Amino acid sequence: MSAPLLLAIETSCDETSAAVVRGRSVLSNVVASQLDMHAQWGGVVPEAAARAHVEALIPTLESALTVAGVTLNQIEGFAVTNRPGLVGALSVGATAAAGLAWQQNRPIYGIHHLEGHLLSVMSLADEIIFPHLALIVSGGHTKLVEVRRPGLYTERGETRDDAAGEAFDKGARLLGLGYPGGYAVQQAALLGNKTRYQLPRGLAKEPNNFSFSGLKTAMNRLVEKEGTGLNIADAAASLQEAIVEVLSLKMRESARQYEMAAISLVGGVAANVSLRERISNFAKQDGLAFYCPEFSLCTDNAAMIGLAAAARLAEGNLTAGEVEVSASAPLRSGN
Ligand code: KG4
Ligand code: ZN
Repeated sequence: MSAPLLLAIETSCDETSAAVVRGRSVLSNVVASQLDMHAQWGGVVPEAAARAHVEALIPTLESALTVAGVTLNQIEGFAVTNRPGLVGALSVGATAAAGLAWQQNRPIYGIHHLEGHLLSVMSLADEIIFPHLALIVSGGHTKLVEVRRPGLYTERGETRDDAAGEAFDKGARLLGLGYPGGYAVQQAALLGNKTRYQLPRGLAKEPNNFSFSGLKTAMNRLVEKEGTGLNIADAAASLQEAIVEVLSLKMRESARQYEMAAISLVGGVAANVSLRERISNFAKQDGLAFYCPEFSLCTDNAAMIGLAAAARLAEGNLTAGEVEVSASAPLRSGN
């Protein structure tokens, strides 16, 4: 029996996204970004985000169907991010998905946002190796998770304070590089000297866990101390190196500790070219399979939500039902 044709919706933060997915195939993945709007304020404003989702959702859904070349009547199930995230923003997607599912008399599946990031790798190969160790790095999360099967997760570690994406975003703000910071830091770092400024490597001796708040403090001090003499390219390169080095070294140790044969890198910060290269290199040296999605599947998108629902349906551990939204939710197995 072929996998069902799913329409997926993601509105947990500042991207309005809709996608059509069948099994491991992404037939469309449309993202309407609110970045320009939030850039004015230097961060996401929840009320404004929810309103922008309302405006963007219907055109985004229509174009996801058009690009995939299917009609709403052909959709066999609806998958939507229902946790964690901004409640107002999540509600826009969840309400729309529930309405469509009711109107079309089709099942609806609520998906955890991080499960979407974790299973964004499903489109990369016919046979993904399980278990594998995933590093999720986004604006709100930094975690090492053992993905035993789709729907079965064991958390191995996480950040004690800021997420890696936050470290990029806060550093970028201090350097006057704008919002969101990750891509801006990456570009500014291209011509910089990464050894110019010494920045801390948080929790260097503690395996599996991370800390990035000291980095923010150190960046603050650096900007104050150097004043107009600060070389922005060198500071951006040193900041990126501090984050990339800690993430890649700890992931490598963790993969060894848990005897993993495969690893994955997912979430918005996985779009960082330096991080991808560093992890890809140690994976080659250590003989590990390495999964890292293309850029459009790293930052928030609906295709990953559809891929997660499809993988769990194939696994037989996802049930349809009422979809309730919540701001915070742990990543649990089989929920
Ligand atoms: O997964 P995501 O789109 O949203 C959350 O779930 O948080 O991640 C957004 C984060 C932001 O902090 C952004 O600065 C970071 O991903 N990011 C990057 C890059 N592109 C996006 N960080 C480093 N390098 C990049 N190229
Ligand atoms: Zn995300």
